[in-house]
Formats: sequence, C-alpha cells, structure tokens
Amino acid sequence: MESFSNLVRIHVPNYLAGLPLPKSIGGWFKLNFRECLQLVPFLTIVGGSVYLTHKSCKNYFNRKPPVNPEIKKDAQKVVDSFTAEEFKAKTAFCRCWRSANFPYCDGSHNAYNKECCDNVGPLVISAKAEEN
Ligand code: FES
Repeated sequence: MESFSNLVRIHVPNYLAGLPLPKSIGGWFKLNFRECLQLVPFLTIVGGSVYLTHKSCKNYFNRKPPVNPEIKKDAQKVVDSFTAEEFKAKTAFCRCWRSANFPYCDGSHNAYNKECCDNVGPLVISAKAEEN
C-alpha cells in the first residue's frame, strides 16, 4: 500500500513535472523529436482514458429502458404457463408489464399509454369462439 501511495504522491507528480508540456498551442509545433517521445506514454494514457470513458458513457446513455420495470426481476426470464382448463370464458393478459396482477391485465396499460404516448393493450383469449 505504501508503494502505491508513493507512486501517487511522489512519482506521478515528479513524472508530470518533468514532461515537456507546451504552454501554448504553438508550443506543440516547436517540440523536438525527443520531447515528442517523452510525451507518447502520457498522451497514450490520457487518450486511452478519454476513449474508454467516452465508450462507457456512450453505452450507458444509449441503453434502452427495460420493457419490464418491476415484475419478477429476480427471475432470469418471466414465463407464465396455463392449461386450457384454467381459462375463464374470456381472459386478458398483460402485454405492457405494468399490471399489479401480472400476467393478467388490470387496466394499467391505460395510464402507461397516456404517460408514454404508447398504444399497448392486453392479449385477450376467449375459451370459445364468439358467435356472430
Ligand atoms: S395492464 Fe398491461 S396490458 Fe393491460
């Protein structure tokens, strides 16, 4: 731990103080070959850090929100199975993932649609075909 402390408190500041960093933009064009070589490790570390930070931030901000905000989040996959005998005459299944009675629709899709300008609705299954 002490060696890490020495690295951060003594060696890094000494290394940075010894770098031939120009004080102006024009100074970059006046660096000789040896000074340029001295800057290569430092600029590689800075450039790599900027690149990795940009890449991870880009991945973070480009994430899409989850379809399922809170139902059975501890499960790897949410699967509900039914047999034909379990169906009532007409059963509405939730497809918006907002129902408090999941997997059945409780009408929560209406509030979700209003909030998110969406148009999701339940899957309605009838045990018998409706007669016309
Ligand atoms: S509550 Fe989700 S579709 Fe109705």
